[in-house]
Amino acid sequence: MLSTNDAFKKFKHRLELNTREQDNASARQNEVRDFLKTKFQIERSFLTGSYARYTKTKPLKDIDIFFVLGKDEKHYHDKPASAVLDAFYDALVEKYGTSAMRKQDRSINVDFGVKVGEEDKTDYRILSIDVVPAFDVGTEYEIPDTASGKWIKTDPEIHAQKAVDAYRAYSNEWKGLVRMVKYWNNNPKHGDQKPVKPSFLIEVMALECLDGGWGGSYEREMQGFFATLASRIKEEWPDPADLGPPISNGMDLERKERAERLLKEAAREVTLAINLTRQGKNTDGFRHLPDLVGGDQPFNFNVGGAMWNFSAYLSRR
Ligand SMILES: Nc1ncnc2c1ncn2[C@@H]1O[C@H](COP(=O)(O)OP(=O)(O)O)[C@@H](O)[C@H]1O
Ligand SMILES: [Mg+2]
Repeated sequence: MLSTNDAFKKFKHRLELNTREQDNASARQNEVRDFLKTKFQIERSFLTGSYARYTKTKPLKDIDIFFVLGKDEKHYHDKPASAVLDAFYDALVEKYGTSAMRKQDRSINVDFGVKVGEEDKTDYRILSIDVVPAFDVGTEYEIPDTASGKWIKTDPEIHAQKAVDAYRAYSNEWKGLVRMVKYWNNNPKHGDQKPVKPSFLIEVMALECLDGGWGGSYEREMQGFFATLASRIKEEWPDPADLGPPISNGMDLERKERAERLLKEAAREVTLAINLTRQGKNTDGFRHLPDLVGGDQPFNFNVGGAMWNFSAYLSRR
């Protein structure tokens, strides 16, 4: 019989990146770079953000790609942040059309129109990318931020190194836990507003909140992680590289209070699941999991090559 811990293990496994998805992300990067090179002096580009750190949840969307601009484009660096983003938007529209594109504070989102099927399946394709213009300024980068109208500093290498260090210090389980909580954050039952915004904040908090080492069980870790996130969500969380604006600036107090409440509820759901399982009521315990993350798909499992639906499994018990 499946245990709550097994269910979480399956969930974690489903959120792992595979090579076909990575190939697709890299093909999209090349496609966009080859096109942008006909419009701007692009020195190089690279996949970055949570995608590159393996902390992105599924389905894979909004994958960040930095496009490092050359000296011919230097004039943008002296203009308000919106100028370069407008220019990128106007260029990309020629190739992808307005309906596929969205202007964001720090990037242009390009949607590839991939449909998400059962079990979050996308036929190993990524849904969208965030095109980020960037200038190389020594050891770090500057990227446009239309919220402040300015260029902000960022260092993806420091963010990546911190994630790797945290992962190693946590028996290589840190990234899996971060991806599961990000999946919870995308639960459709939360409506238009995700509990935690930006989702990068979950990862930044995890650098401190997951401490003391891996305790050996997914359910306990998830319970503790949700509870700690709830109790610390109202603190100020600076950029882990100490360069950009605080990551916690994305929410006002009201939104933080809502996040706190929803994170507490999530911790309580996991506690209920653990307690019921401990009393031998595994099936009753499991019933809390689909509601927690937005459906039973992450917990479906494979038996002898056939996929078992988690709800169907529960109803047979
Ligand atoms: N306030 C900030 N200051 C500096 N760097 C930031 C800030 N916010 C985000 N970044 C960097 O930009 C990347 C992309 O941002 P975003 O798409 O919001 O995050 P993620 O891809 O991690 O979900 C982040 O992974 C991080 O490396
Ligand atoms: Mg991103």
